[in-house]
Amino acid sequence: MGLHQGLTAIVTGAASGIGRATAQRLLEEGAFVLCVDQHANEDLSHEHAVSIVVDVADNNAAEIVTTSAIEHFGAIDFLINNAGMVGGSSIETMDILVWDRVMTVNLHAVFKLCKAAIPVMKASQRGRIINIGSVMSTLAGSAMGAYTSSKHAIAGLTKTLALELGEYGMTANYIQPGAIITGITQPVIDSDPNFSEFWINKSPLKRLGRPEDIANAINFLLSDDASFITGHGLVVDGGVIRQA
Ligand SMILES: NC(=O)c1ccc[n+]([C@@H]2O[C@H](COP(=O)([O-])OP(=O)(O)OC[C@H]3O[C@@H](n4cnc5c(N)ncnc54)[C@H](O)[C@@H]3O)[C@@H](O)[C@H]2O)c1
Repeated sequence: MGLHQGLTAIVTGAASGIGRATAQRLLEEGAFVLCVDQHANEDLSHEHAVSIVVDVADNNAAEIVTTSAIEHFGAIDFLINNAGMVGGSSIETMDILVWDRVMTVNLHAVFKLCKAAIPVMKASQRGRIINIGSVMSTLAGSAMGAYTSSKHAIAGLTKTLALELGEYGMTANYIQPGAIITGITQPVIDSDPNFSEFWINKSPLKRLGRPEDIANAINFLLSDDASFITGHGLVVDGGVIRQA
């Protein structure tokens, strides 16, 4: 019997990388999973998975919750807000449309999906929200101003959710991945050998992260073993952030 047998989850950004690994892991653990992505999810076919193709920036949180999660599963126990994008340039040269898009996808869509799902999740005995931040929820990077700002805000949003939802037995936490090999990083890994070298050298474990490393951490935070952990930012970066 799986860890999350019969429970229900929404995973955004489930067609690639961390989201896909998380959806796969939750299905293996017996959960029903609504996989939300702007792209079709070709690899994930499972009798307990429902995939919908939507852009989370399109003000569709209520639709995702009601017509999708409730209609298909009748409940929402877990919400994993994972869909995200980078969009890099300096603040001075940043195109305002790029700033707006990064904020809309990485932050506003997360807020809206939380807001829409919370009334339903209060009925769950195991209500858990996991937002995907970044080591950039703590650190900053030049030419990563929009991303860094959005991921810092994910920390503030999640801490607030933890305070507001505790009385309903719900927890809210965020994960802070380091450099993970996914759709976001693969192009730069392929084009710039310094990228991998930099992150591998900074890690005491001397490797880049894999999507499964993050899925494992999410799985733990969703488990009963993590029921007293809330408002926490869990760094999963192979120790990079500890390097002076
Ligand atoms: N890969 C890393 O090194 C790393 C590090 C820190 C944080 N993160 C975070 O992890 C999360 C997942 O990214 P990933 O690394 O797995 O990248 P990825 O590109 O492999 O996956 C992201 C998925 O999100 C989907 N998505 C993006 N914008 C969307 C939108 N507007 N509507 C619906 N779906 C959308 C994409 O289609 C894609 O399937 C992101 O929030 C990212 O910021 C990644």
